[in-house]
Amino acid sequence: IYHTPELTPADKMPACAIAVDVLRATTTMATALNNGAEAVQVFSDLDKLMASSEKWPADKRIRAGERGGSKVDGFDMGNSPFDCTPEKVTGKRIFISTTNGTRALERVQAAATVLTAALINRKSVVQFLLNKQPETIWIVGSGWEGGYSLEDTVCAGAIAQSLLAESGIPASDFAGNDEVFAAIALYLHWQDRLHELLERASHGQRLLGLGVIEDLKYCAQTDTLDVLPVQREPGVLVKSDFK
Ligand code: MLT
Repeated sequence: IYHTPELTPADKMPACAIAVDVLRATTTMATALNNGAEAVQVFSDLDKLMASSEKWPADKRIRAGERGGSKVDGFDMGNSPFDCTPEKVTGKRIFISTTNGTRALERVQAAATVLTAALINRKSVVQFLLNKQPETIWIVGSGWEGGYSLEDTVCAGAIAQSLLAESGIPASDFAGNDEVFAAIALYLHWQDRLHELLERASHGQRLLGLGVIEDLKYCAQTDTLDVLPVQREPGVLVKSDFK
C-alpha cells in the first residue's frame, strides 16, 4: 500500500496496480461506468484533456473535473458521482481531470493490470484479485497534494481485509508490511462508521465546506456497485466484463 503518488516507486511496477481516490475520483469513475459511460479517460493536465477531447465528437464526450473540489470553469460537470446519471453518461466518453486521483492513475499506468477502487466497488475488485491472483498487488492512495488521506487508507484496508478473509491467507504472512497492518486496523475500527470517518477526514472537511454533503454519504457506502473499472490502454478505463 502506498499512500500517495509521490510515495509510489517509479522504477518498478507490480502485476496489478489499484488506484484509490474514495473522495471522489474513483467513486465517480465507478459510478459513471456502472451507469453506462463507454469509457473514462483520465488526465492530470487540463490542456491535454482539452486537446484530446477536441478530437472526439461533441455529442459523445463529457468534460469533467475539479480543482480544489469545485467544477472546472467551462466543463460539463465536476467530480461528483451524482453528476453521472444514466441519462447524462450512457454511451459517452468522460474526459476527466481531478487534483489527485488522476495523478495516482498516471503514476501506475504502466502496470500490467490497472484497476480503480473505491469503497462502493470494493467487492468487485476483491473478486477479481481472488480469481486472477496477480503475483504483486499495489494499492495506491491518491492522498491530497502529496499528503496522507484517511479515506484512501481505509479503502486499502477494506480491500486487504476482505482479500485475506476470502483467500484464507493468514495476516501473519504479511509480517513486515506495516502499511497493510495499519490500513486493516483502521478499517476494522471504522467499518461500521465509515461516513463518520469520511466527515472527519481533511478532504471530507473540505467537501463539507463546499456543501456536497450527499457526496460524502454516497462515497462512504461499501460494496454497493458491481463494477470493475480496468485500464484498456494507458489512461483509458472501461468497465470490465470479467466475472
Ligand atoms: C481528487 O482527485 O483530488 C478528488 O477527487 C477531488 C474531489 O473530491 O473532487
